[in-house]
Amino acid sequence: MSGSCDYRCSKVKNKQKVQCTAEVPKKDGFAHFMLKEIYEQPQAFQKTLQGRIQQGKVKFEELNFTQEQVKKWDKIYIIACGTAYHSGLFAKSMLEEFLGVFVEVEIASEFRYRNPLLDEKTLAIFVSQSGETADTLGALRKVKNSGATTLAITNVVGSTISQEADYNLYLGAGPEIAVASTKAYTSMLIMQYLLSIYLAQVKGTMPEQKKEKILIALQELPEKAQQILAQKELYPEIIQGIKNAQSLFFIGRVFDYYIAMEGALKLKETSYIHAEAYGAGEIKHGTMAIVTEETPVVAVAVQKSVYEKTLHIVKEVADKGVFVLAVVEEGDTEMQKWANKVIYIPQIENIVSPVLAVLPLQLLAYYTAVARGCNVDQPRNLTKAVTTE
Ligand code: M6R
Repeated sequence: MSGSCDYRCSKVKNKQKVQCTAEVPKKDGFAHFMLKEIYEQPQAFQKTLQGRIQQGKVKFEELNFTQEQVKKWDKIYIIACGTAYHSGLFAKSMLEEFLGVFVEVEIASEFRYRNPLLDEKTLAIFVSQSGETADTLGALRKVKNSGATTLAITNVVGSTISQEADYNLYLGAGPEIAVASTKAYTSMLIMQYLLSIYLAQVKGTMPEQKKEKILIALQELPEKAQQILAQKELYPEIIQGIKNAQSLFFIGRVFDYYIAMEGALKLKETSYIHAEAYGAGEIKHGTMAIVTEETPVVAVAVQKSVYEKTLHIVKEVADKGVFVLAVVEEGDTEMQKWANKVIYIPQIENIVSPVLAVLPLQLLAYYTAVARGCNVDQPRNLTKAVTTE
């Protein structure tokens, strides 16, 4: 391995066959890598999609699954840590719906220490930006030799997880330097939409019309993401209601809840404010006791099927004098009557809207962290790839 290897190679230096590129990532005029990476998302989406939608079908050169193989799987595990784990929650819903197979999303550091049911009828998907996370790798090694098929989704070429899994899908999101994952997360989401459709396509269980709608919407994402990223002037004012809080709650339902989980993680790791996500209905089962004027609430209400239900909880917390920030779709006129601040995202086929809904939450975390003087790219006590157990 040459001495001029880039940062990536230093993570995988035991993998001699990795092609080194000498390019060192630069901030390109952005104040922090995190902000640069947030703004790189439209291009990252394009890279993840590139060549993978052809003539109305999803194509993966890396995969050669037969219908017999896909039909054989009677359970699927998605195994990951942190942000990558959050991305897997979406794939669970889609795979269960499109394939009619039971799917479990597992935290790698838990999965590896229990005795999951594994056999040749199992597909195990490992999601990891770095491809080096110790617990995800440990979980992969546990699954190997069980007869299960292993498939990795990674962003770093030549990473250990990508090499040890039976199959690997490379995100192509480009180098992610900031500890807080942004473009890798949204690329993971897109990859899992594609993978879910691909597997259903092979199995023959995906209605053509539904597939077509989702594939069209996925290709609209880069442009619609640009529209959200163009609104950076909103945030200095929005963060006024958040930046001095000691604790806050993110709420949503189903897909909106999974985005809320990611928003809470992003805020806490970058700005050190305690933040927790709840399924909007679940907050009533205990946590509401500590929702006060001191605890702002961020509500994600983009999924049409559960919008009214989330709005109902927003009304309840707004009545308590809580500062509410909401993320909704353009055209919504109701939420602004209750929330103190509303961020609007462009309308898009509802199933892919989470990819857009998370962008304002990434920006919220970023600008809050900057306002609090935090070390945005390298938060205390954290590392980019958690390679120790
Ligand atoms: O490299 P990985 O995707 O396996 O990393 C998993 C987590 O450590 C990572 O997503 C972490 O949660 C991020 N810092 C969140 O922004």
